Amino acid sequence: MRIPYPALLLVSAVCLTGCRPAEQPSIICTGQRKGYLEPCGFSRPQLGGLARLDRLISSIEPAPVLLDNGDLTMRVGRQAHIKWQTTIGALGMMGYSAVNVGEKDLALGADFIKAEAAAANVPLISANIAGPNGNLLFKPFVMLKINGLRVAVIGLLGVDFAKNLPVKLIDPAEAIERVIGQLKGKCDRTILLAHMPYEQAQPLAKKLPECLFALCAHQGDEPDIKQTTDGLLLFAGSKSKYVISIKTKPADGGNAATVKAEEVELGPKLKDTRRITELLTFYQQVVRMEDLLGKVPRAPHPKGLYGGTQACAKCHPAAMKVWSNSKHAHAYETLVKQNRQYDPECVVCHVIGLKNVGGYRSIEATPQLANVGCEACHVPGKAHCDAPERYKTLEASRKWCVNCHGPDHDPRFDLEKSWPKIEHKKK
Ligand code: HEC
Ligand code: HEC
Ligand code: HEC
Ligand code: HEC
Ligand SMILES: [Zn+2]
Repeated sequence: MRIPYPALLLVSAVCLTGCRPAEQPSIICTGQRKGYLEPCGFSRPQLGGLARLDRLISSIEPAPVLLDNGDLTMRVGRQAHIKWQTTIGALGMMGYSAVNVGEKDLALGADFIKAEAAAANVPLISANIAGPNGNLLFKPFVMLKINGLRVAVIGLLGVDFAKNLPVKLIDPAEAIERVIGQLKGKCDRTILLAHMPYEQAQPLAKKLPECLFALCAHQGDEPDIKQTTDGLLLFAGSKSKYVISIKTKPADGGNAATVKAEEVELGPKLKDTRRITELLTFYQQVVRMEDLLGKVPRAPHPKGLYGGTQACAKCHPAAMKVWSNSKHAHAYETLVKQNRQYDPECVVCHVIGLKNVGGYRSIEATPQLANVGCEACHVPGKAHCDAPERYKTLEASRKWCVNCHGPDHDPRFDLEKSWPKIEHKKK
């Protein structure tokens, strides 16, 4: 069951009139943000984003323990590094107690993530990621106090996930035995942050003494809570659109603490916090200052170079008229309004040929390639512009619409309804 935010508010309201803190979530779990700093997709309502997460967490009294299961970003390259830095900075502001290292984090370099996490004051954990000499690269676990209990939070990465990375993965089953040895007599409960799907995590969680739950990863897209006879398995979903909120009852007289988990949606009712909004503005400034747009890697397009929309207009005034009246003609302006015209991750679908040789570079250098112009749908047409009688066809297909109108940015795209809005005939 998915609990919308107002339900949670209700709980806080009740608490004002004097209930025990145990009624508030004591642990918030997140994971696999995959680079989504802001609410994502254009599905309505948009969900997720660091600023809403911050609002949710700030509204919980007393402050809950915050745990993340890794894969903060998804890609590699300079922008991913800046994003990772921004994300761990945000988690640091919120006061995260542990981030389990995922393979996407490792791909940015163990030294890089260690340095950034240290700067942000967020402990990175993993009990089975070792360097070439076999020594662990991260702390295997952290010890926390939750409702008076000594809780060890242990991190593990699934063996299949770091195949092409310059690290040695210790078999998780072996790693967990080692940790159990180290923990003897030192903790009351354990939590497993398992960067792996349920079926791999379950036998590991079973080995751990007094395991409250295992937070898993790579378990599809949607969040999930699974109570098994062997214990509680949790998945916070992909892209951090939800969190798993956990209520633990204090252990009275040494009785087992009960654990209740629910999915909480990060919806629009959670107002962005100012400190995260400012951090994200700073992120955009860095992206601009470093001119990441100008540094996008480019491949030659097999059909050659672009002619530019204004060139097409000279010979195809009718098509130009239809296009000018469509939203495609304002796609660049849309980004300017959001101050995102320097972010390659946005610009790519709002201009022509960002990733191709001869494609869009900047509004000053290539104004004729801004917006979803003719050659954003048709193949590059410089040769056709120069000699239309020799190069007669300029292929386009309605099948290509989904390259931009895909599940992330236009999940409800309907070709039959959309095509008439942009249809243009000869000349
Ligand atoms: C110098 C004039 C000229 C320019 C510039 C020009 N075209 Fe054409 N285009 C033509 C002519 C002539 C034809 C031949 C078919 C016709 O009579 O419509 C044609 C045909 C086409 C066709 C139809 C081909 C088919 O298979 O039926 C498309 C699509 C097209 N042009 C798109 C473009 C685009 C996009 C641009 C800009 C990159 C462009 N044209 C620039 C003159 C031009
Ligand atoms: C290069 C990326 C790209 C491609 C390819 C593309 N679009 Fe779009 N489309 C956009 C963007 C970006 C917008 C939003 C523009 C804005 O509002 O600023 C948009 C907006 C639209 C809109 C207006 C939204 C609405 O519902 O009123 C329609 C209709 C549309 N596209 C149809 C199509 C169709 C049909 C195709 C394929 C023939 C197509 N698009 C191909 C990027 C693309
Ligand atoms: C994969 C291609 C793609 C990428 C990447 C992309 N967009 Fe778009 N964008 C679209 C399409 C397609 C539409 C039109 C669909 C619609 O209007 O819902 C659109 C529409 C929009 C709109 C208008 C939506 C509305 O409600 O009218 C805004 C604003 C926008 N995009 C901003 C961004 C920003 C900011 C980024 C970067 C974080 C971005 N886009 C990245 C494809 C993309
Ligand atoms: C959103 C994508 C898109 C954009 C933008 C676009 N076209 Fe097209 N265009 C198509 C598709 C798809 C077809 C093929 C129609 C079909 O599926 O039968 C086409 C067909 C054409 C044709 C041939 C029509 C016919 O009767 O055979 C011409 C000419 C043309 N486009 C010119 C242009 C020009 C000029 C521009 C820019 C002003 C432009 N197009 C912008 C997608 C686009
Ligand atoms: Zn992963």
